[in-house]
Amino acid sequence: MEQKSVNILGIETSCDETAAAIVADGREVRSSVVASQNALHEKYGGVVPEIASRAHIEKIYPIIREAMEQAGVGRDEIDAVAVANQPGLTIALVVGVTAAKTLSFMWGKPLIAINHLHAHLQSAMLSAETLELPAIALIVSGGHTCLYEANSPLELRLLGSTIDDAAGEAFDKVATILKLPYPGGPNIERLAKQGNPKAVSFPRSMLGRDSLDFSFSGLKTAVLYHCRGQDMQGQDRVGSMSEQEIADIAASFQAAVIDVLVKKTKRAAEKIHAKTVLLGGGVAANGTLREAVRKMCETSRPPRRLLVAPKQYCTDNAVMVASLAYYKYRAGLFAPLTLEPSSTG
Ligand code: KG4
Ligand code: ZN
Repeated sequence: MEQKSVNILGIETSCDETAAAIVADGREVRSSVVASQNALHEKYGGVVPEIASRAHIEKIYPIIREAMEQAGVGRDEIDAVAVANQPGLTIALVVGVTAAKTLSFMWGKPLIAINHLHAHLQSAMLSAETLELPAIALIVSGGHTCLYEANSPLELRLLGSTIDDAAGEAFDKVATILKLPYPGGPNIERLAKQGNPKAVSFPRSMLGRDSLDFSFSGLKTAVLYHCRGQDMQGQDRVGSMSEQEIADIAASFQAAVIDVLVKKTKRAAEKIHAKTVLLGGGVAANGTLREAVRKMCETSRPPRRLLVAPKQYCTDNAVMVASLAYYKYRAGLFAPLTLEPSSTG
């Protein structure tokens, strides 16, 4: 007899995207709805937590309803409600957590708590039938830069992370320095296509021979000094720079970030003799990074298999939440209705 599929409603509100999705059996995406708040935060050059939280409150139930309508499933066909409850902005997370707890209670369905970063990693596994172990995962987002050893969707060991700015945060801050709109990542990538990545030699912080941690704040400061003079004594030159000069800075900055990300991922992969490399998170939408990691995997001896999150599931979404929740569902790992959000994790 054919087994009935497991439909999970995933909810994501950790930062500035309100998202809901229905995923069957951890893989089959039946719907995915994402409401981005970029327009609301653009004029502030970054996410304003109170504005994000208010927008989540307005959007959360219409987005969940839309996800259910698009998937053509009613409450009776939903097997569990999953929500990203950590890490993120607490006042943003609490909106998704409250909605998930309410629906779980009203519908009498189990509640599943999901770590947002582990969910990013899961989006790289979405298309894989099998996972050749051991695997190294690089998760690069606006808030985090992490290297994990992954032995299954639920068995992750953190090997290294950022000691200051995350990679995406560096993209966003450098975009602000270059007077590009928020979010910075896609705008830097677009501009870098016209620039020379060797034009400015920005620093690559490796933090010692064996370190698997990251540091991007020195690089961000180097860009700032390049644009405003050492110790910020000079004038902000960006306004008077040619488009080519700005594109060269964007390309050189992007090259420095990617260099560090790829070298550290290679270092981690060599350390654990990884057969597979997983790449996910918002910054993984960057085509130059995807290509550089692909090259690193191909030229490794023996070559490593690369699994990259599909572009639409690199930035925040709820498919990754519902997909990872399937494995917790199968393992019976449910959360109590007293579940709270947590900014760390
Ligand atoms: O994963 P995500 O949507 O949110 C967090 O969990 O933080 O990542 C958002 C980050 C932002 O910093 C954004 O600038 C960056 O991902 N990003 C990119 C690109 N697209 C988004 N960075 C570089 N290149 C891109 N194409
Ligand atoms: Zn994220």
